[in-house]
Amino acid sequence: NVPTVAPGKYTVYLGPVINPTTSTHFDILPNCLVVVDPKGNIERLIENLPHGSELQNVLGQIGVPDGRYSLVVLEHGEFLMPGLIDTHIHACQLPNLGLGGDHELLDWLEKYTYPTERRFSEIDYAARIYPEIVERIINSGTTTSCYYGTLHLEATKLLADIVRSKGQRAFVGKCNMDRNCPSYYIEPSAHVSLETTKLLVAHIQNLPQSSAGEPLVHPVITPRFAISCTEQLLTDLKKYVETNPHIAIQTHISENQQEVKKTLELFPDCTSYAGVYDKYKLLRSNTILAHGVYLTDEEMKLIAQRGAGVSHCPASNFYLGSGMARVRKLLDHGVKVGLGTDVSGGNSPSVLYAIQMASNTSKMVAILPNEGGKKFDVAMLLYLATLGGAEVCCLQDRIGSFKEGKAFDALLVNVRDDSGNPAVWGYNPNRDLAEGDCLKKEVLKEWLERFFFCGDDRNIRQVIVQGSVIGGQGRQG
Ligand code: GUN
Ligand code: FE
Repeated sequence: NVPTVAPGKYTVYLGPVINPTTSTHFDILPNCLVVVDPKGNIERLIENLPHGSELQNVLGQIGVPDGRYSLVVLEHGEFLMPGLIDTHIHACQLPNLGLGGDHELLDWLEKYTYPTERRFSEIDYAARIYPEIVERIINSGTTTSCYYGTLHLEATKLLADIVRSKGQRAFVGKCNMDRNCPSYYIEPSAHVSLETTKLLVAHIQNLPQSSAGEPLVHPVITPRFAISCTEQLLTDLKKYVETNPHIAIQTHISENQQEVKKTLELFPDCTSYAGVYDKYKLLRSNTILAHGVYLTDEEMKLIAQRGAGVSHCPASNFYLGSGMARVRKLLDHGVKVGLGTDVSGGNSPSVLYAIQMASNTSKMVAILPNEGGKKFDVAMLLYLATLGGAEVCCLQDRIGSFKEGKAFDALLVNVRDDSGNPAVWGYNPNRDLAEGDCLKKEVLKEWLERFFFCGDDRNIRQVIVQGSVIGGQGRQG
């Protein structure tokens, strides 16, 4: 049951829109008209619909036939924004959410994570739990997820199937890991690791395309991290990715001090952690590197040169006590940066929580001696959660902001009290609508801030991917 747009049916949204443009600016559009075509792409974006315009005339002028569209008029206290992009999440670790936060990375992997992931060898377990997991992630407002599955082929194929059937945009990979893991959770050889990876790639490439006639779920090569990969495995992966330049790559880098130390011990001929991945040609424009807390200036330069992106995972970096990433420095070096929840290293599947923790990280880094970073404003946080993430996934031409021709991946946000979230105090009819019916830009900006810092799933009325409503709390359509 793949959600599709009804053939020939346009959807027209009328109401306030928040639209990121760069890391320093976003458009605040109190009265916007978004015309979504039958494929789920944005056909027209009228940023400032004159008050009192005859909708029928406007739509007629832009060629939307009478009776061939459904109209969604946003209510007061609602706005549209691009969907949230999670550039790093382990779908298989949701069962472990909120456990083990008193351990650091390498201990946590042994004591909590590998035992949790091992259970996905049973396909019945995967079939029971992955649908709930993906649903929860979608309802958190994530329209695109970069998923790590386990090392298991069958369970990860199933994860990809479930993601596709629910209509979420995603990357799905199975972990490559053939050393330094417990005997109950390790691949038997580099050969098996590569062959099962190829089978997963083929499976994902055969999934049905989106209503726009392009893949919705993409394969991603997932060497777990340098410590868990033999030189043979990395050599095999190098050959494979060289002949498949369009397949994305994801891995972890420089997350934790012990991890960095152990990596450099295992690869004595490499002078840096990034150097290890570069040696095996794993740094390129479609590579997503999670964490990057301890990257040196030289490594940042190398990563920028290769065009790879970093997934900033601040919730996880706090929860596992890993450290605080120098995100401003990464951006200044020209490295692409998006946000990741890194469940269950991170203790929430919500990108909203990652936004809050990214804000906190930037504030703490800004007061450290010799860092002198500026703390992040709302424009930067919005950028990291949307357009920045799209760039990290190399999907900036399709998603991350509203633009004619791009896919309509969006959230319909509700900051009213009737959302059921008493923490959000974003809508006050007496104040917000004091001046006639026109919503003021300052008020709309406040709604976004309230959503970012006190919002949760309850404030997301609709989650929309490629024009189709795939989740959310509220009414459909
Ligand atoms: N490094 C290697 N595996 C993992 C993982 O599952 N989570 C995190 N946060 N770091 C890792
Ligand atoms: Fe991770």
